[in-house]
Amino acid sequence: MIFLDFFEVANLDELRDNKRKLVTLDKNQIVLFYLNGKVYAMNSICPHSSGDLSQGELDDQEVICPGHQYMFNIKTGVCLNHPGYSLRTYKVKIDGEKVLVGI
Ligand code: FES
Repeated sequence: MIFLDFFEVANLDELRDNKRKLVTLDKNQIVLFYLNGKVYAMNSICPHSSGDLSQGELDDQEVICPGHQYMFNIKTGVCLNHPGYSLRTYKVKIDGEKVLVGI
C-alpha cells in the first residue's frame, strides 16, 4: 500500500475563478484544472519537448500542448497522440475550500 502525503496547494474559489493553477510540489511542476466542479492534477511539463501544459488550451477533458498540439487527458494523463508520452497524475482531496494534492 502506498501512503501519500497531502499538501494544500490552492483553494476552490481561486480555481472556480481561474479554472487552473500551476504549483510546485517536491520539485514537480503540477497543473491543477477545474472542470465541471472537480479538480484534476497532472504534471505540467510536456514530455515531448517541455511545453508548459498550464498554458495549453482546454478542449473538454483534454489539454492541448502549446508546443506541438499533442493532447493529454487531464483525468488520466494519457497522451492521445503518443501514449508513451503520458503524464503523471496526482490524487486530489477537497477539504472544505482547501485543495490538497497527494504526493
Ligand atoms: S512540446 Fe508538447 S507536443 Fe511538443
